Amino acid sequence: MEFPSEFIRFLTKASRVAVLTGAGVSQESGLRTFRDAQSGLWAQYRPEDLASPEAFARDPKLVWDWYAWRREAIKGVRPNAGHYALTEMEKKISEFTLVTQNVDGLHRIAGSANILELHGNILKVRCSECGTFTETWDDDVESVPRCEKCNGLLRPDVVWFGESLPRAELEAAVNAARTCQVFFSIGTSGVVQSAAALAHAARNKGSVVVEINAEPTPLTPKVDFAFHGKSGEILPELVKAVWANGLS
Ligand code: APR
Repeated sequence: MEFPSEFIRFLTKASRVAVLTGAGVSQESGLRTFRDAQSGLWAQYRPEDLASPEAFARDPKLVWDWYAWRREAIKGVRPNAGHYALTEMEKKISEFTLVTQNVDGLHRIAGSANILELHGNILKVRCSECGTFTETWDDDVESVPRCEKCNGLLRPDVVWFGESLPRAELEAAVNAARTCQVFFSIGTSGVVQSAAALAHAARNKGSVVVEINAEPTPLTPKVDFAFHGKSGEILPELVKAVWANGLS
């Protein structure tokens, strides 16, 4: 892929870069996105039936089992070249912030360090009553496992629809978007708030905004550079193009 020389110059000189990622970045690892027609999870399941506090109150076992199924799927995959390219970029740029909507933990496994998990992490579990985190729980019981401390139902440490994002992570993400010189939106449909507002916050502060996505999104008309294709192919090429020695 050819990258405009103007863009390469921007990125080469940039010392503050913020990146927002979504499910598209993990698609080439074998994980389904949410809104891709047919293959997206929301094409098969209704988010309101599975990813909301109301759904958990209504049928905790259904919700618990769905996240357990997703957790097993995530344990069976590895980061892809897109994840590793972002790890490389972090080594080359002095202030690099990776904001992710993904709960799969693949960025961390790939070696990224400065990560803000805006929607939580599916590999973590906490009590729905007292909030206590636990590393271990009994998965083969008929009902949802319970908190050893208060006997409350355990739940995945992810942000459900209608719940607020973790305050510290959101504040840090907004700050990174507002102070970066280059903002990347990668593998996200850009329709879910508050994450979708970050690119606009960066743009309003005069940052160069870049989209890397398999298809155009509502953000596309607003960006300075848009590269449509697979992030696992585009990102390694970009790293090679900007930092010459690439991923050797
Ligand atoms: N490379 C780049 N982009 C890709 C790839 C790929 N290999 N495969 C798919 N995409 C793009 C799709 O075209 C789509 O625009 O990734 C985007 C994924 O969008 P969504 O499925 O809407 O996922 P995301 O934006 O992360 O969803 C945001 O919504 O359901 C909630 O909490 C959930 O974090 C999630 C949030």
